[in-house]
Amino acid sequence: MKSNYLPLFKEISFKSGVQLKNRIVMAPMTNFSSNEDGTVSDSELRYYERRSGGVGLVVTACVYVSRNGKGFQGEFGSDSDEMIDSLRALASTIKEKGAKAVLQIFHGGRECPPDLVPNGDVVSASAVASEQNPNVVPRALLDSEIEAIIRDFGETTRRAVAAGFDGVEIHGANGYLVQQFFSAHSNTREDRWGGSIDNRLRFPLAVVDEVKRAAAAHAQGPFLVGYRFSPEEATTPGITMEDTFRLVDELAKKDLDYLHVSLQEFWSMPRRGADETKSRIEWIQERAGHLVPIIGVGSIQTPDEAVKALDTGIQLIAIGRELIVEPDWVEKVAEGRESEIKTTLSKDDQDRLVVPTPLWQAIIHTPGWFPIGD
Ligand SMILES: Cc1cc2nc3c(=O)[nH]c(=O)nc-3n(C[C@H](O)[C@H](O)[C@H](O)COP(=O)(O)O)c2cc1C
Repeated sequence: MKSNYLPLFKEISFKSGVQLKNRIVMAPMTNFSSNEDGTVSDSELRYYERRSGGVGLVVTACVYVSRNGKGFQGEFGSDSDEMIDSLRALASTIKEKGAKAVLQIFHGGRECPPDLVPNGDVVSASAVASEQNPNVVPRALLDSEIEAIIRDFGETTRRAVAAGFDGVEIHGANGYLVQQFFSAHSNTREDRWGGSIDNRLRFPLAVVDEVKRAAAAHAQGPFLVGYRFSPEEATTPGITMEDTFRLVDELAKKDLDYLHVSLQEFWSMPRRGADETKSRIEWIQERAGHLVPIIGVGSIQTPDEAVKALDTGIQLIAIGRELIVEPDWVEKVAEGRESEIKTTLSKDDQDRLVVPTPLWQAIIHTPGWFPIGD
């Protein structure tokens, strides 16, 4: 291995005691390929098996914690104890290849397609449609329903422990329910869950507390809890960097194992609420990196880019699409074969890359999403 790549291969220990063999994380990626009943399919297991040999940590696709939180066709579930065996198969597939396994736990809120939730009853913080789905106006959750969803996050954490996962990552990013409570765009409530920023923080922080409580109550050994968020929204009103600084300050008090900053472009610049002297990730690292490890992500393809990203001071790098395109990314860097890393795929590569058909269809039919060569 080239010596300048050594920073990528340093071990790291989290507060919980979970240790990783290196700094490369498989980013959470939905694959649309679970069984109709919410169990993990064999093709998904093979897809994870193929990608769990090199990275230190695999964060799974998001899993719905409540039945009315299913956000994608072919998403897997953790909403009942009947799912524990399916979750166990996923955790052990990942761990047998040498990576730590973290379950990304999620509720889709207003982004759930009506045909995936019982009675088409799409719910959110408030009855405000998103710009992506203007025709789906969600129903505002009742106070008691909010409490029930918070408990569902705890129940899923208990199931993740029982299934052998090394931890859970709360999906507070990409516009789904946890973010919907934090955003002034989707949350126009006037009760204790909305209005002031303190009230909009109440749901995300209650989820964190409940997940931490469940982990402490059930895990016998080290079990990590991470939190993923998107630093800004494009809408007005919507989350700004200033809001995010407040979120990060609160999360940093919660003894989390890491914060995972969801970005399409690692080096993207602030839109509102912080100046452009630094990228978003650098602002967040400056704010909280001394308190809690930060994971960065977004269009990192080469080991040189990954090392440059670590030079910001963040502790870990996640790669998503690139690990679909090149399942042996980490192994090739470790063995000094980085020149063999592929950065494009071809339409005939499905079997070679071990990608389930629904994900493959999405990859090749969504223009601009993946680098498709000849
Ligand atoms: C197919 C696909 C599915 C994704 N699903 C999720 C998901 O379930 N949860 C999540 O937090 N992010 C999800 N993302 C976002 C990725 O985790 C990541 O942030 C994004 O792809 C940018 O990183 P990359 O350039 O390394 O792919 C998904 C991305 C892709 C390409």
